[in-house]
Amino acid sequence: MNGVVLISGNGSNLQSIIDNAKSIDLKICCVISNRTDAFGLKRATKVGIPCVALDETLFDSKLDFDQEIMKVIDNYQPGVIILAGYMRILSADFISKYFGKILNIHPSLLPKFPGLNTHQRAIEASEKKHGASVHFITEELDGGPVIAQEFVNIDSTDNAQTLAKKVLDKELVLYPKTIHWYTQGRLKLIDQNTATLDNRTL
Ligand code: GAR
Repeated sequence: MNGVVLISGNGSNLQSIIDNAKSIDLKICCVISNRTDAFGLKRATKVGIPCVALDETLFDSKLDFDQEIMKVIDNYQPGVIILAGYMRILSADFISKYFGKILNIHPSLLPKFPGLNTHQRAIEASEKKHGASVHFITEELDGGPVIAQEFVNIDSTDNAQTLAKKVLDKELVLYPKTIHWYTQGRLKLIDQNTATLDNRTL
């Protein structure tokens, strides 16, 4: 399956997807970043994947920016759009155009801690467990149906940095595995609140 990956930063999830692409039946056609300095762009370039970096400060509105990104995406007719550390809220037009085709990984056990600073917030809430979630994108921010999660324990010695590292290590395995379910046609978004794996509601 052809896929486009959207990033904003370091791109360690992107790297894991690149490393596993063959075994998960994915061809990464293009990497798009909303930040021209995202290190992930270097990772993609190194293995010959076309990259597009758009400077978001040059656009008048969120929709203008997303329309430009949609043009790039449509050149590749991807079967899946993979958000891998893409730190920008998508416009409603974008989400409805690709409904059921957009996957995201979020560094918390959703529905706990949508949004930013998830690791610090989990520590401050005295959580014992934390983790990462892969979910479909719907209009509700970080609110689309969860597909799969991985857990880590929060130890008394953890801070936001150590916890982020523990969670990221889990993400690097969880995301390719979940993307593979999608490329195999096993995973479907039925409506705003429902996803299925092998026709069973998740
Ligand atoms: C990852 O931890 C990912 O879950 C998170 O950003 C990090 C990106 O790291 N995504 C979000 O917070 C999305 N709301 P990476 O660029 O090294 O893959």
